[in-house]
Amino acid sequence: MNNGSVDRKMTQTSTNSGVLTRRIDLGRSSDIPLDDFDRIPSKIVVNKLNFFYGNHQVLHDNDIEIKQNRVTAIIGPSGCGKSTHIRVFNRIYELYRDQKADGSVLIDGENILSPSTDLLKLRKKVGMIFQKPTTFPMSIFENVAYGLKLHYKISKGEISDRVETALKSAALWDEVKNQMNKSGLALSGGQKQRLCIARAIATEPEVILMDEPCSALDPGATSKIEELIMILRNKYTIALVTHNMQQAARVSDYTAFFYKGEIVEFDRTKQLFTKPSMKQTEDYITGKFG
Ligand SMILES: Nc1ncnc2c1ncn2[C@@H]1O[C@H](COP(=O)(O)OP(=O)(O)OP(=O)(O)O)[C@@H](O)[C@H]1O
Ligand SMILES: [Mg+2]
Repeated sequence: MNNGSVDRKMTQTSTNSGVLTRRIDLGRSSDIPLDDFDRIPSKIVVNKLNFFYGNHQVLHDNDIEIKQNRVTAIIGPSGCGKSTHIRVFNRIYELYRDQKADGSVLIDGENILSPSTDLLKLRKKVGMIFQKPTTFPMSIFENVAYGLKLHYKISKGEISDRVETALKSAALWDEVKNQMNKSGLALSGGQKQRLCIARAIATEPEVILMDEPCSALDPGATSKIEELIMILRNKYTIALVTHNMQQAARVSDYTAFFYKGEIVEFDRTKQLFTKPSMKQTEDYITGKFG
């Protein structure tokens, strides 16, 4: 991590593309400046992570620290391994045969690649939002209650309360509160994505993985999700895969640039986008390839 100061209290940050980025004034004493990297608790520590589809190795010795209550963006050209990398964090890849990870991935200090990991607990702790909203063919209410019923034995009243809280946190409540029995499939794309975020946060995860959550959305819906990400980061640790570099610059604290399965550069987002240290990063962010 390079030196340099990033003042978390500032309200605007400029990037090399001239985009002005809004920053939320968190005003929290626990809000350690981003350049104090080592003092910020790491939620996930990845060491020498390799990943194989059958005999085909697609991740090579990935090392990264995902900081708690921060947004880490993962960027890089198509096929460089972004989705593969974050899918390791909740071992979702194991639903498929022939996919294998080695190395270590510590979440809160425990190696989740260990065979003794309780996968149900892990997946409750590490929620995931996909590129295409995975709305279930059921009511808005049931879409959010689904995970709650899977993970908790709680009363109907408590389920209702938690559904409401999750929809409020996902900034969707006001739009759906009078139509909770309507099919989730009838919502717009942006509303569906916020419904999926509500479902993910209803079970109180600690980490939220987002794999191109806005790529199917229009600019208005995208900016709603981006605002939401900046609020959610106060409570959750977020890893965000995005092809949209302005989005990474707007919402993330740290950025990792992946290329051909390797992490070429990882730094504070502002640093990486304004003064990248690697030529490959510079070529990518200036649009020379990818
Ligand atoms: N199910 C699979 N079986 C075999 N190879 C795969 C599979 N999924 C991905 N790969 C390969 O792994 C590599 C990394 O793919 P991955 O989907 O992680 O890339 P990505 O960076 O997320 O790309 P994109 O930006 O297009 O989503 C690619 O070479 C891809 O072809
Ligand atoms: Mg992908």
